[in-house]
Parts: sequence; C-alpha cells; structure tokens
Amino acid sequence: MQPIGQIRSPYTEGREIPKGPGAKHDAEGVLELRAEFEPGLMDIEGFSHLYVIWKFDRSEGFSLTATPPTDNRPHGVFATRSPRRPNPIGLTVVELLSREGPNLRVRGIDMLDGTPILDIKPYLSNVPAEKLRRGWIAEAESR
Ligand SMILES: C[S@@+](CC[C@H](N)C(=O)[O-])C[C@H]1O[C@@H](n2cnc3c(N)ncnc32)[C@H](O)[C@@H]1O
Repeated sequence: MQPIGQIRSPYTEGREIPKGPGAKHDAEGVLELRAEFEPGLMDIEGFSHLYVIWKFDRSEGFSLTATPPTDNRPHGVFATRSPRRPNPIGLTVVELLSREGPNLRVRGIDMLDGTPILDIKPYLSNVPAEKLRRGWIAEAESR
C-alpha cells in the first residue's frame, strides 16, 4: 500500500491530542491528496462525514493488550484504538468542511501532522443507536 496523501494537523506531538474520558476531537486540519488522486474526489462534497484510513507512522511495535487513557484496566488491542497494533492502521471519522482541488478541510482530526493517508471513504452509519453496544467503554464511564 502506498499513501494517497498526508494530513495537515495542528498536532506535532501525541500529548497535544485530547485523550481520556470526555475527550473531544474538534480540531481542524487538511487532508492533502497527491495531485494524481484528485479525480478520485469527484462528488465527495455531497458527504457530511468521511472515514479516513491512515497509518500510525510514528508508533513502534505492538502489544496485544493495552490500557487506554479512558480506563485503568487492560483490554485486548482489537477492543481498543491503541496506536500499537500488529498492522498500524488508524481510522477516524471527520466532518468535511470544504474542498479546494485535492485538499479537503475537515474537523475532528486526532492525527499528527504529516500522517500518511491510506484511503478515504464516505461515512454512512446505519446502526440504530439502540443496537449499539459500547463494551468496556460504557462500563469504564459508569465507574
Ligand atoms: C487512540 S489513537 C486513535 C486513532 C484513530 N481514531 C483510531 O481509532 O484508529 C489516537 C492517538 O494516536 C496517536 N497518533 C496520532 N497520529 C499518529 C501517528 N501518525 N503515528 C503514531 N501515533 C499517532 C496520538 O497519540 C493520538 O492521541
């Protein structure tokens, strides 16, 4: 896989990114696509939100358990959003604010500046709220 572009973010260090219970991700940034991929953005303006699939390019190695900042107990890596995973792939839902050619201005980023973008897809949620279970996160929040 080759990156299709990079993320322009106000964050240059992990500690600047909000974490833990109640953390809000409302920072704005730009998804800068390489010029040759611009035709792939045709009709993207009609979508309010996008999935951004990206690479944790500054994380090293992995651990099969992780203790996230939202809890004080360990969980399996695949039950968390830990950056230290066997395949270091990140997934973030962002709000699309505007487009200028190959650049998408978005809100809701939690990636470091220069993070490689692997793919972008329109976000379409069809899971009814009453069917959604939030696992250990709901338990941790109620503790
Ligand atoms: C908990 S992860 C969640 C990322 C994404 N929303 C997901 O679910 O895959 C977010 C953290 O990843 C770290 N991070 C962001 N960009 C990174 C990068 N390019 N390489 C390594 N770590 C990064 C930051 O510490 C940030 O707080």
